[in-house]
Amino acid sequence: MKIDDDPLRPAPDASGAGPTAGGPGVSAARSSAGAASPDSVAAAPPVVPSARLGGVPEFALERFFDRFEFDLPHQLGSSDPETLSVTELLALADAELLEQWQRLRLGYRTAAGDPALRAAIAALYPGRTADDVLVAVGAAEALLLACAATIVPGDRAVALTPAYQSLHELPRAMGATLDLVAVEERDDAWRFPFERLMGALRPGVALLVLNTPHNPTGAAASPDELRAIVSRCEELGIRVIGDEVYRGLEWGRATAPSVTELADRAVAVGVTSKVYGLAGLRIGWIVTGDHELRARARAIKDYTTLCAAGPSEVLATVALRAERLLRERTRTRCEANMVRLEAFVAQHPELFAWRRPAATTVSVARLAAPLLARHGGDPEAVLAHWRDRAGVVVAPGPAFGCTPDQFRVGFGRADLPEALEALAAVG
Ligand SMILES: Cc1ncc(COP(=O)(O)O)c(C=O)c1O
Repeated sequence: MKIDDDPLRPAPDASGAGPTAGGPGVSAARSSAGAASPDSVAAAPPVVPSARLGGVPEFALERFFDRFEFDLPHQLGSSDPETLSVTELLALADAELLEQWQRLRLGYRTAAGDPALRAAIAALYPGRTADDVLVAVGAAEALLLACAATIVPGDRAVALTPAYQSLHELPRAMGATLDLVAVEERDDAWRFPFERLMGALRPGVALLVLNTPHNPTGAAASPDELRAIVSRCEELGIRVIGDEVYRGLEWGRATAPSVTELADRAVAVGVTSKVYGLAGLRIGWIVTGDHELRARARAIKDYTTLCAAGPSEVLATVALRAERLLRERTRTRCEANMVRLEAFVAQHPELFAWRRPAATTVSVARLAAPLLARHGGDPEAVLAHWRDRAGVVVAPGPAFGCTPDQFRVGFGRADLPEALEALAAVG
């Protein structure tokens, strides 16, 4: 699939104006600056959108959550699992970190990231050291820095679809064109598209943006598949950016190595949000053996966030020193919730179909046809009915490039049983 077929991109507006400066207008402006209507030309100066982040289209999922994440009781579409309070997290701190926390002064911090935090991050990647780590504000910033530090305009990149939108729009904003490889779906089960992906790795490709375990489908490359992919990329001189934010949450299968364990040039992206349930810390990172790249990313960071927040760095260090315990906490909850979801869909086939994924805290479900028909064939009307009547929020499939009758279910939250009960009550 090529850039113009991306399901994450809205269909071109007949007026030519497009819904945002960087939506369909991006490709229009690339092919012909004069294609935009007089109004949009007046509103936006004629810049090359790929050369600036201001050209990115709206982040559909974030705009959606902005409306529904904080006021409704049951979040059944979120990817971040149940979180902890500061008190609960600090109860896991060793004496050294507890003292650091109590004495913490709230000045600027080092740009690369606190050395103790970088050491705790490096410990997750055999063979890597604190010098290979750059701390960022969430995986959100880590992805931006990784893309900005690697991509030059005109690069050809391979990425998966459906996708977390950053993984398409950031490479494009930096000037790359994308070849999209579809995750394989059969009977509502999702499979990592190993053969298709290998086929897309060809001479002339500069970058592979690989998200495994994969959001939103929960598909995951096996350890052997990942080794083969990275090895093929090495042969062809393709840089790999591995978004591995769900790594460690595989279900009944082995965790694949990180891309940074397999190739010096590869860049691994991680975060405390998913495996450890600590999205509010906003601590993410890049790990790579390519120190020139790391230096470029760090130089760009001077213009984005400069440094992470001190309290977050200390709390993230506490979390990563207790990483096994926190990971098990998330795993235990997800495993129990997947069993509940399986029982629910068996009991309520009239609502939706859903299959347990290979990995992650999420996967994609499909609305039952009769339910959809009762709502005039409008999937958004079903999701609105669930929000309004049951207080349950699921994430709309099109925000990831899935079909309108699909939606993302997250199964890491403590209130999943109540959310399912509320859905069953309203139908
Ligand atoms: C695949 C993927 N990458 C990156 C991110 C960004 O993580 P964060 O919001 O914690 O920065 C997310 C968040 O949902 C994600 O699913």
